[in-house]
Amino acid sequence: MFQTLLVTKDDDGQHVAFAQLDESDLPDGNVTIDVEYSSLNYKDGLALTGGPVLRKFPIVPGIDLSGVVTDSSDRRWEVGDRVVLNGWSTGEQYWGGYTQRSRVNGDWLTRLPDSIDTRRAMAIGTAGYTAMLSVLALEEHGVAPETGPVVVTGAAGGVGSVAVAVLSKLGFEVVASTGRPAEAGYLKTLGASDVIDRAELSGDVSPLGRARWAGAIDTVGSNTLANVLSSTRDNGCVAACGLAGGADLPASVLPFILRGITLAGINSVTQPSHRRDQAWARLATDLDMDLLDSMTTVEPFGRLPELAREILAGNIRGRVVVDVNSGDPAKG
Ligand SMILES: NC(=O)c1ccc[n+]([C@@H]2O[C@H](COP(=O)([O-])OP(=O)(O)OC[C@H]3O[C@@H](n4cnc5c(N)ncnc54)[C@H](OP(=O)(O)O)[C@@H]3O)[C@@H](O)[C@H]2O)c1
Repeated sequence: MFQTLLVTKDDDGQHVAFAQLDESDLPDGNVTIDVEYSSLNYKDGLALTGGPVLRKFPIVPGIDLSGVVTDSSDRRWEVGDRVVLNGWSTGEQYWGGYTQRSRVNGDWLTRLPDSIDTRRAMAIGTAGYTAMLSVLALEEHGVAPETGPVVVTGAAGGVGSVAVAVLSKLGFEVVASTGRPAEAGYLKTLGASDVIDRAELSGDVSPLGRARWAGAIDTVGSNTLANVLSSTRDNGCVAACGLAGGADLPASVLPFILRGITLAGINSVTQPSHRRDQAWARLATDLDMDLLDSMTTVEPFGRLPELAREILAGNIRGRVVVDVNSGDPAKG
């Protein structure tokens, strides 16, 4: 028997409850995993509170997991392999990571670099891996430490915190935008050179503002993304990966046609395996693991429903690892 968090749906809406399942309940797949850790992302917060994320019921939510292979009929994976799974619609359409055991399609797995254990893999999680995909996009569009500062919006959140830490380790001047001034010290510890109030970027959109940064990683969307675009320097690049402030984009074409900037969309869910390997390899070398530990809290399985509400309220700092084997979920 093993514990899962299960979401069911009926005429009254979605219901979230812990359940004890056995091997016969596992979904189809060719690799079985003892899950060691999962994590909490903004999308998980939406999924657990009835947001438009889950596409099949009943379902085990959780878009991340890390663990050890216990059985495999896929020749690429052997018993004892340490793996991570992000995206591929797990925790949305297929069984996700809020379980002590899972069975998955071997195509979806990524081998963990030797220097990243399963707990740190979930401290990184989808948020950190998305931050690295965003950094890769900036680099591929010519943004480098010598081209100018990079702004990170939603900086005290999960994607934002990892982005600040990685960019700073790479030698960038990082401007962190946050709505939580009390987190300025935290963001400077991660490597931000400057911390600005999110209100500077969330107001009325200027079609073409003062050119301030060579690049940006935006987790907020809406007016914030539009203002970031309009304040990006000639030939700069903005990696757009989030919508914590809204899914709209009230922007003008002027930054594109007068400054030649690039808007790079980031979708972590559908990246091919080689891109995932590249991102995880870069996380192993370009993310300071002590800083990662400092931005991470480890929480017991049973607190997930409460934590889901907290992340949507913008109250979570950095990253939350979920220890699915800790505590009695029924007791919270
Ligand atoms: N494209 C992808 O594949 C992908 C992957 C992962 C995540 N995402 C998206 O990226 C975003 C961040 O995810 P996350 O897991 O890092 O979430 P998170 O930990 O909750 O961070 C989001 C941050 O955004 C800021 N924020 C929240 N509400 C806001 C508002 N109304 N206006 C402006 N800023 C606001 C807050 O930062 P401050 O307190 O510092 O202001 C918050 O900490 C989410 O929209 C998520 O869906 C996308």
